[in-house]
Amino acid sequence: MALSSPIDAEALAWVEAWKPCLDEHAYAVTRIEGEIPREIHGTLYRNGPSQRILPRQGYEALHLFDGNALVHAFRFEDGNVHYTGRYARDARFVYEQEHGTDGLGFVNLPAEREDVAVGFSPNTNVVWHGGKLLALVEADFPFELDPRTLESRGTHLLRKEMLGMSTTAHPKIDGRTGQMLIHGYQPIEPYVQLYVVEPDGTCSSAEPVETPYAVMMHDFAITEHHVVLPLCPLTWDLERGSCLRDWLRWEPEKGLRFGVRERTAGSPVRWFQAPSPGFLFHPGNAYEKDGKIWMDACTYPDVNALLEQLAVYRSGRLVSNAGAHLVLYELDLASGSCKETRLDDRVVEFPRLDDRLIGYESRFGYALMGEDGFIGPRANRIARYDRTGGAGTFHEFGPTQYPGEPVFVPRTSDASEDDGFVLSVVYDGETGKSYVAVLDAQNLTGEPLARAHLEHRVPLGFHGNFAAGVV
Ligand SMILES: [Fe+2]
Repeated sequence: MALSSPIDAEALAWVEAWKPCLDEHAYAVTRIEGEIPREIHGTLYRNGPSQRILPRQGYEALHLFDGNALVHAFRFEDGNVHYTGRYARDARFVYEQEHGTDGLGFVNLPAEREDVAVGFSPNTNVVWHGGKLLALVEADFPFELDPRTLESRGTHLLRKEMLGMSTTAHPKIDGRTGQMLIHGYQPIEPYVQLYVVEPDGTCSSAEPVETPYAVMMHDFAITEHHVVLPLCPLTWDLERGSCLRDWLRWEPEKGLRFGVRERTAGSPVRWFQAPSPGFLFHPGNAYEKDGKIWMDACTYPDVNALLEQLAVYRSGRLVSNAGAHLVLYELDLASGSCKETRLDDRVVEFPRLDDRLIGYESRFGYALMGEDGFIGPRANRIARYDRTGGAGTFHEFGPTQYPGEPVFVPRTSDASEDDGFVLSVVYDGETGKSYVAVLDAQNLTGEPLARAHLEHRVPLGFHGNFAAGVV
């Protein structure tokens, strides 16, 4: 069938970009355009869903969040790149390989068997901390992988005995101290918990954090002295429907609140009410300055549209008004007030920064940018935005070139903010394969410094991180 417009080609490429990759690969990348800066020494890890055995309802029945964890490692050394991609052998993966998916639940599909406890695939993020490589998901324990081969080492429990609650996929590693904070949440009390993991990987604290009701709390933020917990009005109603998708309820009348708590164990929570309701998956950064906490985030104003979009994502169908915008929140610690300012009207997601500044004053952020609606068939840009409100710039990859989350790598360990490189795994709809793009952060609009071309396609995915010196 002839394509009637470029949009059709983009929509088809976009659907293809997310499809599972059934095979595992490991090879030295031989086709490199440009030159990989030798300052990039370490491994870029990235995670994402890739459902190997489909439910009988088919691929399009999957929610965006469904899929086995296919983890990718791009090892940068002396201007060369080596690729490894491997599935995590978590309990769900092993069960599916032996028994198939019949009876298992997916986000859009109810479980038909109650007697199989397989947990969630650790498909959302992958972090290097305390000498461990951990694959993470919204509601399960970290899953450890070998940092070089990506072979599965198994579930890492932190201190499960303390609360018995899982963690999310979004730890925050303090840019100066190396301490890692990670939270968990659940629809029964205690609704939220907080773990503190020291730089050597030992868990020094695990405690509940008092919140007034249970919400979906995908991510949070830290500052030098505080944690910031977004209590978005996306609540749980386990009486409604029969699958995960049905159990989330948008209650904008509850408003958007931020729980601010000192990082010291046992500290009380103070609540700040944002002027507008909204939902956020991801804050960018937060820091303390002039008696305030400044936090930027990608905020969704129309959450019913967002939920619908996530549910039909794999069909390529776009739901109008389902995107997020950059918002800067100012939490005044003296008065208890909260101010919000929209920094840009374009649709963005996956906000990142120079990770050395997590929790501390920072100016620049990097994010995926779409043209309209959601991050969809025209999301072929990486933006560099200015939290102080200055003009942002973006790199446009061209039609059907789909970058993933941008990851900043400093030129040297003591380079100034923004002096370094932005790495992203890009799906090339022209060739049906993927490449890693290396952009100059301070000349983002320019040609990529290098493209390291894979011999195959890796599905678009979620989050990842650069482990400096890990090769
Ligand atoms: Fe996330």
